Amino acid sequence: MLDPSPSSAGPAGRSLKDQIDTSSGGRREFNFDRKHFDFIAGLLYKLAGISLAPHKIEMMYSRLARRLRELNIKDFDTYCALVDSENGEPEIRFLVNALTTNLTSFFREQHHFEHLAKTTLAAVKTSQSSSSKPRLRIWSAGCSSGPEPYTIAMVLCANIPDIRRWDAKILATDIDTHMVDTARRGIYAAESAKTIPSDLRDRFTKRVRDGAEPEIAMVDELRRLITFKPLNLLEPWPMKGPFDAIFCRNVLIYFDRPGRTTVIDKFSIPCSPQNPKILWRNNSKVI
Ligand SMILES: C[S@@+](CC[C@H](N)C(=O)[O-])C[C@H]1O[C@@H](n2cnc3c(N)ncnc32)[C@H](O)[C@@H]1O
Repeated sequence: MLDPSPSSAGPAGRSLKDQIDTSSGGRREFNFDRKHFDFIAGLLYKLAGISLAPHKIEMMYSRLARRLRELNIKDFDTYCALVDSENGEPEIRFLVNALTTNLTSFFREQHHFEHLAKTTLAAVKTSQSSSSKPRLRIWSAGCSSGPEPYTIAMVLCANIPDIRRWDAKILATDIDTHMVDTARRGIYAAESAKTIPSDLRDRFTKRVRDGAEPEIAMVDELRRLITFKPLNLLEPWPMKGPFDAIFCRNVLIYFDRPGRTTVIDKFSIPCSPQNPKILWRNNSKVI
């Protein structure tokens, strides 16, 4: 059920989360056994719907050991007690951020964006042709560090020449608050922009740092279309919709069957009746 893709790469966050922890010379610095894993995995499942298989025990240890050091906590019994306590709320947020998998990239699975341009946008243009301010709503649910919503924004701007006249909005949400902040910032390693077609890269990104670690930023034309918000897909959704397209890609693969069903059932509510397009991948896909 878990993402079989390698756990490095991704324009932000992911590689940092999985840097090998060599500070203890290969031996575990903190005692961490199956009961700690089960307690934390159970919490993650309850809060976020994310189902971690037992073989993820090293990943969990490595991501949380750093945290124990930062907090000057001596062992995982104490850490679990902290998370379980009345004052545990901020640490639970940290824990969820630490244990999510945020692998993403610009124009990931490009055919979805071709579908957006050729089918979804074409249908919306037709249905809204008599409107002086055509309405378009797209949701990137599980947006990670932002390449997905920025890719959607590039496709919109490239395919709707008069987009400024439109009431067009992209909602980008993720449970990982650190990823939402990164996405809102919209600055990435220049290397990660290589998957953006060169004409779009020239038009929609600008170089903001040269040198050994060059960076690019998304231009304002894209930013003004996107609203970034933290949102747990398992909790109530404040927005009413309807949406013309919902991208929920590479998110539900981390859920078990009941969790996936819960979220997929909720997706059926906020879609525009004339044009409900929902994309998700692995285990289920509807286009
Ligand atoms: C692998 S990334 C996929 C990013 C992007 N959709 C893509 O396909 O490139 C999965 C994202 O889902 C988010 N996620 C996991 N569980 C979630 C939940 N319960 N509610 C909202 N987002 C969640 C994670 O934080 C992570 O950023």
